[in-house]
Amino acid sequence: MKKLISIRGAVTAANTRSDIAYKSRKLVDRIYFKNGLTDADVVNAVFSVTSDLTAEYPAHAVRETGRDIALFSCAEPNIDGTLRGCIRVMITAYSNEKPRHIYLGKARTLRPDLTGVYSIALDGPSGAGKSTVAKQVAKRLGLTYLDTGALYRTLGLKCLDCGVGTKNASAVEKCLKSVEVGIEYADGVQRVLLDGSDVSGRIRTPEVSMAASDVSAVPYVREKLLDIQRDAAKKSSVILDGRDIGTVVLPDAEFKFYLTASAQVRAKRRYDELIGKGQDVTLDGVLRDVNERDKNDSTRKIAPLKRAFDAVEINSDELTAEQVADFIVDYVSEDTE
Ligand code: DC
Repeated sequence: MKKLISIRGAVTAANTRSDIAYKSRKLVDRIYFKNGLTDADVVNAVFSVTSDLTAEYPAHAVRETGRDIALFSCAEPNIDGTLRGCIRVMITAYSNEKPRHIYLGKARTLRPDLTGVYSIALDGPSGAGKSTVAKQVAKRLGLTYLDTGALYRTLGLKCLDCGVGTKNASAVEKCLKSVEVGIEYADGVQRVLLDGSDVSGRIRTPEVSMAASDVSAVPYVREKLLDIQRDAAKKSSVILDGRDIGTVVLPDAEFKFYLTASAQVRAKRRYDELIGKGQDVTLDGVLRDVNERDKNDSTRKIAPLKRAFDAVEINSDELTAEQVADFIVDYVSEDTE
C-alpha cells in the first residue's frame, strides 16, 4: 500500500516572469521524475517564494502546464542573511519510495547534506559508448571516473588464469577467495590491479569480456566488488559506468543516465576499437558476442542490466560520444552551478 510522503525542493530564479515560470516547472518536473510520480499520486504542491520574487506565482506557472493537482503559492517573510531569489516547494504524494528531495542551482547550498560531493551513474549495455563518454564528462566536470566493468574483467581474467569454468559459481568463488582487486590512478587514467599487478592491458580481450560477463552473474563476485565501488563515491564526486550503478551500487546517485544503442551500432564501435588495438576479430563475431553478453547481463538473477526508473535514457545511435557528453555535462551543470 502506498503511503503519504512529503517531498521538498528549492531552486533559485531571477525576478522575471519567464525565469520564475521556467524554474518552477523544472523543479516540479524533476521532483516527479526522481520520485516516479504522476498527477494521480500527488495530493498538492505548496510553494513559497522569497519576498524579492514578485514577477510570477510559481503555482500559476505550473498550472499552465496542465498539471491536475491542488497548487498554492505564498510569500516568505524577509529574513536577513537567507538565500535570495528562492522558490521552495513541498509536494505531498502517495508513494512506495522514500522521498527524494531536489535542490537545484544555488538552492543546493540550503541542503549541505545534498550538496558537495555528487555522483553520476552511467549504465547501459556493452558497446554503448559509456566509457568514452564517462571519461569526457569526468574531465570536463573535474570528477573521478570509475570504470566498474574493469573490476569484473579483472576477476574474469583471474578465473581464466586459474583455468576454472567461468559459469561455475562455486569454482569461481573458490578461485577468487583470497584475490585482491585494487584501483590506481596514474595521470588521471584508471589502472586495475590484480593482487598488486597492473592488468589494465590484459583485460581488454574478447575472451576476458565473456569471462567478465559470466563471473558477474556470481553473487560472490558482485558482493566482493560492491564496497570498492561505493567507497569511490564517498571520497569525491564521481562518475561510475556499469550495468547496475543506478539500481544497486548507487541507488541514491544525484544523476542517472542510461545509454543505449542498437546491437549493430554497438558491435561496429567495439569492432573498430578492437581492430584499432591490433586484435584479430570479425564484425560478425563481435556482434555475436554483443548479443550474448546483452542476454547474459540482462537476464541474470542479481543486479541485471536495467534502466533505473529515475534514469534519463539516451539513445546514441545517431550521436557521437562528444554529443552525449555535451548533453550530460549540460544537464548536470544546470543543477549544480
Ligand atoms: O563494461 P564492460 O564491457 O567492461 O563490462 C564487462 C562485463 O562486466 C559486462 O559484460 C557485465 C559486467 N559488469 C557488471 O555486471 N556490472 C557492472 N557494473 C559493470 C560490468
